[in-house]
Amino acid sequence: MTEELISRAARDILQAKKVVALTGAGMSVESNIAPFRGKGGIWEKYDPVEYAYIDVLIRNPGKTWILLSEMQKEILKAKPNPGHVSLAELERLGHLSSIITQNVDGLHHEAGNKNIIEFHGNHRDAYCMECSKRIKAEMISLESLPPRCECGGVIRPDVVFFGEAIPHQALTQSHQEARSCNVMLVIGTSAEVQPAASLPDIAKSHGAIIIEINIEATAFTGYTSSYFIKGKAGEILPQIVALVKSASANPAA
Ligand code: OAD
Repeated sequence: MTEELISRAARDILQAKKVVALTGAGMSVESNIAPFRGKGGIWEKYDPVEYAYIDVLIRNPGKTWILLSEMQKEILKAKPNPGHVSLAELERLGHLSSIITQNVDGLHHEAGNKNIIEFHGNHRDAYCMECSKRIKAEMISLESLPPRCECGGVIRPDVVFFGEAIPHQALTQSHQEARSCNVMLVIGTSAEVQPAASLPDIAKSHGAIIIEINIEATAFTGYTSSYFIKGKAGEILPQIVALVKSASANPAA
């Protein structure tokens, strides 16, 4: 069953003029980065209302930085997994137009993808909330929280907090990609956070096939998704991309 769906996904990708991927935290679980929801998820340990809203960062940055420092340490240690590597290969083969990612870990960049829309920003970049000076995450000392700039201002990562808008360019480009693709791969996202969760619906309403890859069913499954491939991103994507690659190498076969 899963094998048939994997072959079907490879065929749909080969026949599509434009393929776009939407990725979520499940994409990086096999790189040892915790997801947000579900067992072992970040929101099990930290209530987002108490830690992840922009007004908390402004009022009590030391508290938000308890969560941020944990995320930062995990992200700086992480390496792309076979799922990331497969999406980079798919782009090199000319069968992936772009990745819209909700992840802030930068692992799609590290895997080698070029066309990436970072919907929720990137945790590897940070800036001072006072003087706007930019700083790389690996240069930030976490010895005393919150970390501060030379000017005394609080440093924040360049990510979207709850209560903040999605960067305008990321939003308009993502909508454009969703409207114009023939296939959208929806990988490792719980479908719970808007506006990212509306992108597959936009793609579908413009005629795209939605291929969902996840270890468990979501609100997309059976509704927005054209079909659902149950499994780990790091196991399913390499199999799909191997089929795309061999068909690209032997087009008559
Ligand atoms: P979630 O943590 O909500 O969901 C992760 C999804 O990945 C779940 O559906 C899991 O079943 C699935 N999953 C786990 N391991 C997997 C694996 N190895 N392979 C495939 N799927 C797997 O993460 P997101 O949907 O990305 O926003 O969350 C969306 C947003 O909510 C995040 O970007 C973040 C959070 O609040 C902000 O910080 C603004």
